[in-house]
Amino acid sequence: MKFAVVGSGTMGHGIAEVLAIYGHQVKLIDISWDILNRAKQRMEESLRKFYEKGTVKEDPSVILSRIEMSTSYDVAKDIDFAIEAVPEILDLKRKVFQSLDEIAPKEAILATNTSSIPISEIAEFTSRKDKVIGMHFFNPPQIMKLVEVIPSKYTSEDTANKTVELARSLGKVPVKLRIEVPGFIGNRIFLRLMQEACREVESGEASIEEVDSCARNKIGLPMGIFELSDYVGLDIDVDLWENIVKRGTSDVPCKLFKEKVARKELGVKSGKGFYEYPGNKYSKVK
Ligand code: 3HC
Repeated sequence: MKFAVVGSGTMGHGIAEVLAIYGHQVKLIDISWDILNRAKQRMEESLRKFYEKGTVKEDPSVILSRIEMSTSYDVAKDIDFAIEAVPEILDLKRKVFQSLDEIAPKEAILATNTSSIPISEIAEFTSRKDKVIGMHFFNPPQIMKLVEVIPSKYTSEDTANKTVELARSLGKVPVKLRIEVPGFIGNRIFLRLMQEACREVESGEASIEEVDSCARNKIGLPMGIFELSDYVGLDIDVDLWENIVKRGTSDVPCKLFKEKVARKELGVKSGKGFYEYPGNKYSKVK
């Protein structure tokens, strides 16, 4: 199948990589060559790790040759399926979906990797609301199995079935939502954990390290709650939180997070969040 992935950041480059690993042709679209070249470097690093471990058998260069990078939507004129992974700003999504709707073949499915914006709001930017759907991967998309599939009130059964099937064919575990709830399922659970973790720290009951130790060693999470927030990016967390609050289902983002974002301490990508990451590289918190 032929895909377009729009946005080549943390999620977009990982999604493009997964598609190419599974033999698909991918057009990876972003606004600048600087961003695209960084994405290429991240895909190379990731594929090298998989190849060295034997998880991926094909030479990384062969997998990468299936990914064509571009700063123009024109490359999307013959795709079957698009996945948008740009920042969580409605106006940005509008531009992406209007462009894809104009250029991609009429029968192509247009999916969004949004984690918090209702799919029906995005579908309304297009002339093919029945073919717009949420396909929400988790970070890192190369490794995380879960994919939430979110049909909107407009999405056809056929689009939903094809998206579930696609997720399965990529080795993922799809969970199809019954109702289009704000924030979907996985992130709403995680926001509750973040809220409780913040309350415990803000009230002086425990330190960030102690809360994370409990999350890892009692609840059995692979990363602590603050550690995972750093990994995802605190700005992403706050945007997600605010998008959900705006639509009425969660408590407001806690002060600890907002203060960090105001200081540009965004987690791994800025070198410091709740923990420090020399060279802006993630390393496991002990
Ligand atoms: N590509 C290739 N390999 C990768 C990789 C990538 N992108 N990321 C990690 N790896 C490799 C590491 O190099 C390491 O390899 P090694 O064993 O040879 O050293 C291996 O995976 C395991 O990684 P680590 O040793 O660093 O650490 P872990 O064993 O903890 O595994 C993890 C990493 C899979 C990320 C695990 O910590 C985890 O599952 N964390 C939770 C992630 C999570 O919950 N994500 C969801 C976030 S919420 C979200 O995305 C939603 C959005 O809407 C906000």
